[in-house]
Amino acid sequence: MFDEKDVVLEARHVTRKFPAPGGRTLTACRDVNLKLYKGKTLGLVGESGCGKSTFMRFLVSLDIPTEGEIFFHGKDITRLKGEELRQNHQYIQMVFQDPSASFNPKMKIRDIICEPLMNFKRIQASEKEETACRLLEMVDLPGDFADRYPHNMSGGQRQRVAIARAIALEPEIIVMDEATCALDVSVQKTIIELVVGLQKKKGISIGFIAHDLGLIQSFAHQIAVMYLGTIVEVLPGEEISSKAMHPYTQALLGAVFDLNMDFSKKIESIKSEAPSPLDMPPGCPFQDRCGHCMEICRKTLPALRDMGEGHQVACHLYDEK
Ligand SMILES: Nc1ncnc2c1ncn2[C@@H]1O[C@H](COP(=O)(O)OP(=O)(O)OP(=O)(O)O)[C@@H](O)[C@H]1O
Ligand SMILES: [Mg+2]
Repeated sequence: MFDEKDVVLEARHVTRKFPAPGGRTLTACRDVNLKLYKGKTLGLVGESGCGKSTFMRFLVSLDIPTEGEIFFHGKDITRLKGEELRQNHQYIQMVFQDPSASFNPKMKIRDIICEPLMNFKRIQASEKEETACRLLEMVDLPGDFADRYPHNMSGGQRQRVAIARAIALEPEIIVMDEATCALDVSVQKTIIELVVGLQKKKGISIGFIAHDLGLIQSFAHQIAVMYLGTIVEVLPGEEISSKAMHPYTQALLGAVFDLNMDFSKKIESIKSEAPSPLDMPPGCPFQDRCGHCMEICRKTLPALRDMGEGHQVACHLYDEK
């Protein structure tokens, strides 16, 4: 399903450390290695504060890793500057959780949607009307919304506008950071259907951050599970319920409520609070919350090992004996 020739973007050994009070260091991302494939969705899940946004921000050059590189079609984009950096924005776009924060409230929807196209001189001012209409239709909004202001729309409609703006430049990658979590469940579903439809039509690769494993497993081709800045498991989205190996992924799955779930089985959820990224213990980051913790887990950080067929896991339970 995942062919190496279809790799669009690859993160290699990406680490981000932030200086913290008292001369301490906060490690938000630790040695992250991930690949994004053409026309596929990579879902990134994990608890609040585990480093999901920190990682995705590198892809759109909103931040620079302390160590490691991100290759877009084989070219390192982590340290681009000036015009090269500006040009690169055309290929990788981001949709945020709260689109209103990124919209100028005084601009009409037409101008908001067409702004990136105008900035890159892809269209003339006289073409705005027709372009805005076409893009609004793509996200299932009526063309006359072009005359509205952002505050005259619902949250779901604003999120569609944000998507229209993100696809305007026909990017190869769209990064969505909790882009649907503020919306109610039915609106969330229609937005995801819309994104999946656009992905199929245009072959866009998507990086999608969510807290909600139930949501992401419904459409992500690949899911990466993050814990305290570390990727602990990567696997094909459709296999997460049946093949998850890492105790943290299993605990996350135990916390997913499903109407068809077997209530006779004990629900394995996570008991204690996550340790701080400031006080990372040596060894496995999940050791204090793991029911399977062994002596080696306290001493040695498990490497992300290839289990075949797009499945990788970082856990000493699966060390070769
Ligand atoms: N600019 C910064 N300076 C210092 N610490 C930061 C900075 N940005 C993020 N952090 C810290 O890095 C860690 C990871 O944050 P991040 O925003 O990536 O988490 P997240 O997984 O996106 O969480 P959420 O699900 O709540 O959005 C957190 O402990 C956060 O406090
Ligand atoms: Mg975040």
